[in-house]
Amino acid sequence: MLEARGVTVERRGRKLLDEVYVTMPAGRITSIVGPNGAGKSTLIKVLAGEIKPTQGEALIEGRNLRTFSAMELATRRAIVPQSTTLSFPFMVIEVVKLGASVPGFDQNQDYSNRIAEDALCDVGLEDFRNRLYAELSGGERQRVHIARALCQLNAALRRRSHTAALLLDEPTSSLDLAHQSLVLGEAREQAAEGRAVVVVLHDLNLAAAWSDEIVLMSQGRIAARGSPEAVFQDELLSTVFGCQIRANRVPAPGVPYMLPHFLRTEPPGLGRRHTLNCSKAPPMGYAESKMHVPLQRD
Ligand SMILES: Nc1ncnc2c1ncn2[C@@H]1O[C@H](COP(=O)(O)OP(=O)(O)OP(=O)(O)O)[C@@H](O)[C@H]1O
Ligand SMILES: [Mg+2]
Repeated sequence: MLEARGVTVERRGRKLLDEVYVTMPAGRITSIVGPNGAGKSTLIKVLAGEIKPTQGEALIEGRNLRTFSAMELATRRAIVPQSTTLSFPFMVIEVVKLGASVPGFDQNQDYSNRIAEDALCDVGLEDFRNRLYAELSGGERQRVHIARALCQLNAALRRRSHTAALLLDEPTSSLDLAHQSLVLGEAREQAAEGRAVVVVLHDLNLAAAWSDEIVLMSQGRIAARGSPEAVFQDELLSTVFGCQIRANRVPAPGVPYMLPHFLRTEPPGLGRRHTLNCSKAPPMGYAESKMHVPLQRD
């Protein structure tokens, strides 16, 4: 389990997180959602031990993260940040194997190779092992980093440590539909193995479909927390995101799905900026019917 107890993070006199109390239970997928700048990445970095809170504490399995060495932390959690830069001409398999090359981990090459190959398979990149990382597409790169984290989880197992948590910051932002499902299915498997899985997502529909718990953030605070059914409510979402959002329900099992209700005040045209008016709720069914209308040019 991951926990933030009264966590405040201040930078240049500004509170990026403001007394955040939250728990992310083992065996479940918790999705953090919220607008740009709400503090999602900051929270995930605090929970991963990458940022120390200005006040309060972050804990993993009841122990304050400040008391862990870097190696101990690497056996307890794996994190995929929102963005990563790699400047060297690494091959894909080398990047994935970085997950197993934590100082203090068993450096058995055969084992490292095997778990790295397995992790590549898990993200659908089994044919990419000898490709240059720098020559991959955005979505392929994103999956390489997820494979690196999966490799780390398995490498820790070899030390007889069960990594308690997997933290993924926008892991699906560059992925097509099939790979979104593949990656979140992998997250589900990690939760089924008893890990606390924390995922930052901007796609509320993915969050609704895959999460056990939702943490909705706004301006450095937790605006709501609970099941997707409890958190995904029209008024709450519309207020937090600052535009009209309607949470609908599919028949059974009633998973919520969200449609932003944008009103165009003028038709899209060449060289003309699209104006989106988010201040008024359109009549029911507006967005659904608009979705099938081809864009027109004037
Ligand atoms: N090191 C820093 N110094 C000052 N301000 C920072 C720092 N890091 C982040 N911030 C600010 O803190 C706020 C929260 O940032 P954070 O990256 O956590 O947002 P986020 O919810 O992940 O947003 P996004 O959806 O855009 O990724 C933002 O307003 C950001 O500009
Ligand atoms: Mg972020």
